[in-house]
Amino acid sequence: MTNRNRAPFLPSLLLLLLFGLTVAAFAAGDDQFIFSGFTQSSLALDGGAVVTQGGLLDMSNGTNNVKSHALYPTPLRFRNSSTGGKVQSFSSAIVFCIIGAFPGVSANGLAFFIAPSRNLSDALPTQYFGILKQQNNANLFVIEVDTFQNPDMQDINDNHIGIDINSVFSLPSHAAGFYDDSSGAFKNLTLNTQIELQLWVDYEEEETRINVTLAPLHVGKPSKPLLSATYDLSTVLTETAYIGFSSTAEIMNTRHYVLGWSFGMNGQAAPSIDISKLPKVPRLRQKAQSMLLAIILPIATAALIISIGTIVTLMVRRKRRYTEVREDWESEFGPHRFSYKDLFKATQGFKSKNLVGAGGFGEVYRGVLKLSKKEIAVKRMSHESRQGMKEFITEVVSIGRLRHRNLVQLLGYCRRKGELMLVYDYMSNGSLDKYIHCQEDDKPTLNWAQRFQVIKGIATGLLYLHEKWEKVVIHRDIKASNVLLDDEMNGRLGDFGLARLYDHGTDPQSTHMVGTMGYLAPELVRTGKASPLTDVYAFGMFLLEVTCGQKPMKQDAEGNQVFLVDWVLEHWHNRLLTRTVDTRLQGDYGVDKACLVLKIGLLCLHPFPGSRPSMREVMQYLDGETPLPELKPTQLSVEMQGLMQDSGFNTSVMSYPQLMSSFGTVSDLSGGR
Ligand SMILES: *[C@@H]1O[C@H](CO)[C@@H](O)[C@H](O)[C@H]1NC(C)=O
Ligand SMILES: *[C@@H]1O[C@H](CO)[C@@H](O)[C@H](O)[C@H]1NC(C)=O
Ligand SMILES: *[C@@H]1O[C@H](CO)[C@@H](O)[C@H](O)[C@H]1NC(C)=O
Ligand SMILES: *[C@@H]1O[C@H](CO)[C@@H](O)[C@H](O)[C@H]1NC(C)=O
Ligand SMILES: *[C@@H]1O[C@H](CO)[C@@H](O)[C@H](O)[C@H]1NC(C)=O
Repeated sequence: MTNRNRAPFLPSLLLLLLFGLTVAAFAAGDDQFIFSGFTQSSLALDGGAVVTQGGLLDMSNGTNNVKSHALYPTPLRFRNSSTGGKVQSFSSAIVFCIIGAFPGVSANGLAFFIAPSRNLSDALPTQYFGILKQQNNANLFVIEVDTFQNPDMQDINDNHIGIDINSVFSLPSHAAGFYDDSSGAFKNLTLNTQIELQLWVDYEEEETRINVTLAPLHVGKPSKPLLSATYDLSTVLTETAYIGFSSTAEIMNTRHYVLGWSFGMNGQAAPSIDISKLPKVPRLRQKAQSMLLAIILPIATAALIISIGTIVTLMVRRKRRYTEVREDWESEFGPHRFSYKDLFKATQGFKSKNLVGAGGFGEVYRGVLKLSKKEIAVKRMSHESRQGMKEFITEVVSIGRLRHRNLVQLLGYCRRKGELMLVYDYMSNGSLDKYIHCQEDDKPTLNWAQRFQVIKGIATGLLYLHEKWEKVVIHRDIKASNVLLDDEMNGRLGDFGLARLYDHGTDPQSTHMVGTMGYLAPELVRTGKASPLTDVYAFGMFLLEVTCGQKPMKQDAEGNQVFLVDWVLEHWHNRLLTRTVDTRLQGDYGVDKACLVLKIGLLCLHPFPGSRPSMREVMQYLDGETPLPELKPTQLSVEMQGLMQDSGFNTSVMSYPQLMSSFGTVSDLSGGR
């Protein structure tokens, strides 16, 4: 039988070799065959199994839940029941290659099997290699090349070879690898890393021994098998049975390629596979990369979308954070317009540590402009109404064009919803009131010369506002806390014109005027109408404040309201004017100068606006160019006190509810200053 069967084998092989075909497929009876590539094989394929153009048997086309089988087309006679029924010795060699999408990420594996029938329809498409079932696996002999640790199968790991007989449970199984012939050492192999491997399955009839051996393709068959088990397959296999491969495709898209296969039975060994004739597994690395891409690309895309989303969100948030209100009419004020972002950055986000002052109009923050490194003060005011905003901004910008060494330079503005910011030069020495109303009584932080310099400076600045610019600017809120000191301790008027913002568009008769209690001229309280002479009145109060070191109103020991002006008048009346000079100066001042200033102050505080001097005259008095008009303290005093009572600068004001209400409104508006 063997001779007859072998006869056509050699010529066929030679023929194939002669024609230089890389693919050889032939059958010697049914006892021996070899496939080096499967192009001309007539394997019975089902499921996703295909033979590629290159001759590879591709056992999984990537479609999920599809079981694939490749069977030798005819059944093989494993035993002859009439001759005792023993399964004959057989051997098979298989060259395969498993390409996992990711090395180390496992999926289902590949199986070599012997089955009683071609009808494998009841095998599961999802697991057990597409050949086994949970139960009823009778007459099945399976060598599993497993790349997945399936707890159902009690797998030892996700990279093993096992022998399964009539069951999903491996009889013996072993981690994939081989025993090196020279050293005898076991060497691990990873099944799903694109390495071409060869598997040998040998069965020996006499000893009923099954040997399974694995090795890399270029290593010959190791003499020590990976697995060796004794099991009489005569109890398992049917008389004739089919042999073949099976696998299932799964989500990881692991590909199972068979490159070559040989089989021998009936005393004939499986022909050894000629490596050089095997088809090439196509561009393994690129394929893997493209598979990698197929997985990474969506992830990367998702990541990109997420990051773009994040960036957009951040930008929107950032934009919202820096949103400003900008209207068409503002374009002409471009150079005076600051961006909120610049101001935000300059003040480190309006941090409280940069807060240098807070007043009735709003908070003042110190800041440094990023580009120019210029120090600025940002006055941040809430302003809900847009009414009169255009006029106000126009005025702010025009005021911004005012340049005087005794005015705090207004640099520009910025608007946000409900908020207005004015940007000024930063005055390093802060406001005057901190010096003249400081707590430590014995330490005047400003000596008389400095005070006089400040007084003259403010007078000059106010004169500039009233007379020297193209139009009259009324300050409306002169007081020590609105006077700032620059590096050289020059007094500079700040906040000019601001009151207009709150004054704008309101009925002049209304009591909604702005200013500070104690600095308000009687007629201003009555009419609500500001004029240069109401500024002069406030300046007079400022003179007393600076010279006496006291606030316009204070409480005496008995808790009664005392008005600074009354107190000074009284002393003047009693010829004790010098007693009113700030005691913190410790007498270190020019008596004449101090008395001059006090008298100018009282003159400015005259209840009749017409009797007050203009700022030009004030300057002349201060410079000593014009002598102060002869004032009789008694006369002034009588006049003043009479009028003061009328206008509420006395405790008798309490009996005039009308005036009360106007004061109430005023103090509301100027609260906290
Ligand atoms: C894989 O094989 C199955 C079964 O033959 C088939 O339905 C499916 O379309 C195939 N998929 C691909 C990608 O070829
Ligand atoms: C079984 O063996 C007997 C005796 O060798 C032989 O005559 C018979 O043809 C064999 N049957 C088959 C199906 O090969
Ligand atoms: C395959 O086997 C199943 C039951 O195991 C049966 O229902 C089916 O008809 C069989 N298919 C063929 C083609 O014989
Ligand atoms: C081989 O693999 C097994 C299990 O995966 C591991 O325990 C062993 O250390 C590995 N041996 C070598 C030499 O890498
Ligand atoms: C199986 O392997 C053992 C060594 O482990 C060897 O002695 C025996 O001959 C092998 N049998 C076959 C059928 O290869």
